[in-house]
Amino acid sequence: MKDLLCTVRDNRPVAENIYMITLTLPGSAGALHGGQFVNLATGDNSLLLRRPLGVCLVEGNDVSLCYQVKGRGTQTLTKAKVGDELKMLLPLGNYFDLSGYKKVAVVGGGVGIFPLIAAIRENSGVEFHTYAGFRNAAAVCLLDELGKSKTLTVTTDDGSYGAKGNAVDAFLTDEKNINADAIIACGPPVMLKILKAKLTERSIQTPCFVSLEERMGCGMGACLVCVCKSADGKNARVCKDGPVFEINSVEL
Ligand SMILES: Cc1cc2nc3c(=O)[nH]c(=O)nc-3n(C[C@H](O)[C@H](O)[C@H](O)COP(=O)(O)OP(=O)(O)OC[C@H]3O[C@@H](n4cnc5c(N)ncnc54)[C@H](O)[C@@H]3O)c2cc1C
Ligand code: FES
Repeated sequence: MKDLLCTVRDNRPVAENIYMITLTLPGSAGALHGGQFVNLATGDNSLLLRRPLGVCLVEGNDVSLCYQVKGRGTQTLTKAKVGDELKMLLPLGNYFDLSGYKKVAVVGGGVGIFPLIAAIRENSGVEFHTYAGFRNAAAVCLLDELGKSKTLTVTTDDGSYGAKGNAVDAFLTDEKNINADAIIACGPPVMLKILKAKLTERSIQTPCFVSLEERMGCGMGACLVCVCKSADGKNARVCKDGPVFEINSVEL
């Protein structure tokens, strides 16, 4: 893990209320994997906490992160200009380890698609079948990256782009045809909860790995702000023990 002063190379909207920021690292941070995240300073020194964002694209020493504008931190981040310098702690957390899997179903909702893109990019030998759900057409983004999958199904809640519906149902409709040997998923908590319930309901035993989002403080295991309950009743730190967990090993 390194704390690096990085230079903004690009920062622009890619969909309504969603930006992609690309930062150039001053040197290597080591291997970065899909599912891992960074803790990025916002550029406003009065905001002590950095913001956790999933690694999306990695090209040499350039790392791109996509963020939805939500509160003060991400609003400040939209103002970062080319050449500005921001501190970034990385890489943090574990990742989607797909070694041994040949055919993987990808289920993503909203900003949850970003870490999944990194997983698709780095596992070029895996056949991916991707189901990406967005709120509406204005939120649809990065289809060129998602399209690196063997098949891509896009859904929107209101049917303004792709099929009307959600990524979980789209995946379940196809589930028997694709016969994946693993599932990876990231999205809003309610989406992951529904995915878990439906996999259980249908007795689908395919290993499923989900990336969780919790409010975070330190991002490296010290403050316990991010704990979730594991299935055995113990606590797990999303930042250090996750953010990627086998779906049945955590309470959603
Ligand atoms: C491992 C991980 C990866 C993430 N990856 C992405 C991503 O790739 N793209 C993206 O758009 N968002 C991602 N998020 C969510 C993102 O961190 C929050 O949306 C962001 O921190 C909100 O900051 P804010 O200042 O705009 O909002 P505010 O609500 O003003 O934030 C106040 C505080 O709460 C924390 N916080 C608020 N919402 C969240 C949240 N959902 N998760 C964690 N901390 C939160 C902030 O970090 C900050 O400390 C990720 C979260 C986690 C935990
Ligand atoms: S954010 Fe501090 S322990 Fe996870």
